Amino acid sequence: MEAFDFDHFESRLSWSQMKWDPAQLQESFGTSDVLPAWVADMDLKTAPAIREAVIEAARNGMYGYTRLSEDVIRSYLDWQKRRNRWTASPDWFRFTPGVVAAINLLLLSETEEGDEVLIQRPVYYPFSMSVELQNRVVVNSPLRQKDGRYEIDFGDFEKKASSPKCRAFIMSNPHNPVGRVFTGEELRRLGEICLRHNVFVIADEIHSDLILPGGRHVVFASLGDDFAQNCAVCHAPSKTFNLAGLSFSCIMIPDAVRRDRFDKAFTRYCRAHPNFFAPVAAKAAWDSGEEWLEACLAYIYQNYLYARDFAENTWRGKVRVTPLEGTYLLWLDFNRLEPDPKKLEDIMLHKARVALDEGYIFGPEGNGFVRVNLAAPRALIGKIMRQIAAAFQ
Ligand SMILES: Cc1ncc(COP(=O)(O)O)c(C=O)c1O
Repeated sequence: MEAFDFDHFESRLSWSQMKWDPAQLQESFGTSDVLPAWVADMDLKTAPAIREAVIEAARNGMYGYTRLSEDVIRSYLDWQKRRNRWTASPDWFRFTPGVVAAINLLLLSETEEGDEVLIQRPVYYPFSMSVELQNRVVVNSPLRQKDGRYEIDFGDFEKKASSPKCRAFIMSNPHNPVGRVFTGEELRRLGEICLRHNVFVIADEIHSDLILPGGRHVVFASLGDDFAQNCAVCHAPSKTFNLAGLSFSCIMIPDAVRRDRFDKAFTRYCRAHPNFFAPVAAKAAWDSGEEWLEACLAYIYQNYLYARDFAENTWRGKVRVTPLEGTYLLWLDFNRLEPDPKKLEDIMLHKARVALDEGYIFGPEGNGFVRVNLAAPRALIGKIMRQIAAAFQ
């Protein structure tokens, strides 16, 4: 029996939430008759302390323009210190209404049209979209699989970083979708290459609170002052506490000159204010959400073990389960059953009747893979896995 009832399933249909919304499913998948395990938010209710804080704030009835107060930033800094042993300065903090928005602004402030930007595919597809839509050039240094686990090809990475046109690297750590949590040693090597070749690091650490047993997150900027000055770190309470609908992220830019450039880009292209409820929820999360998060991570880990055992018992090695170190996104390799990405998609949607993030959307390196969102009641994960199994019978 869990102290928090993560087994409880409650419909999200009345709230226009993307993951379940029939019109959204129709638009994204061409059918709404599917069980969804795609977009990265949770079918689990957030921490009671956050719910209470938001309800209390809602009673006020005046939802005007909101300033981010010092104590909210202090709660974030305390959280980072406690969870990740990272001591940061409040001056570095910048609000954006999302991490993708921040990546776009950082590309604008740190690179120019025609510059090359490194990514590590298969990776969260908005990275390429942002780069391309801003007329920058995507340069891919693919992660390589070794015995099913993904590794960085440092030789390839350095070769690409050393191009004089290469100006930035967008890193996903923990990595979406392959679930790696990069070690301090890996990050240091990446960081040194970037310093050597004057490549700015955009460290997207949105999943950094979602570390499964045995892992530890290293904040890129905590590796040393020269690393810190050469990066922006993107955090948010959104994935951790299921607050994505509140549109709130924390962007840490240690270098004052870069911060100034970022502020100008923000003023020019964004100029958003925080959603009234976001700082309320975020502060409650950082101050009082830790016990809930630990329980939630334990639950997600059990979901992972369940899905992994299910896959092993059902497909006996024909579907390979990528070891999950961080995030709640499981990366399954169906290449031995159906290597054609479009046929695989068709089977998942129309035979299994499940809406997943198909691997190919993360780049061709994801062909034959699917990404399953595990942040849901176990009964739902069970149903999804059984429907997939039946589709391949
Ligand atoms: C790696 C990564 N970055 C950014 C985002 C989206 O962040 P936001 O909604 O704050 O723009 C996601 C969402 O899944 C993600 O996985």
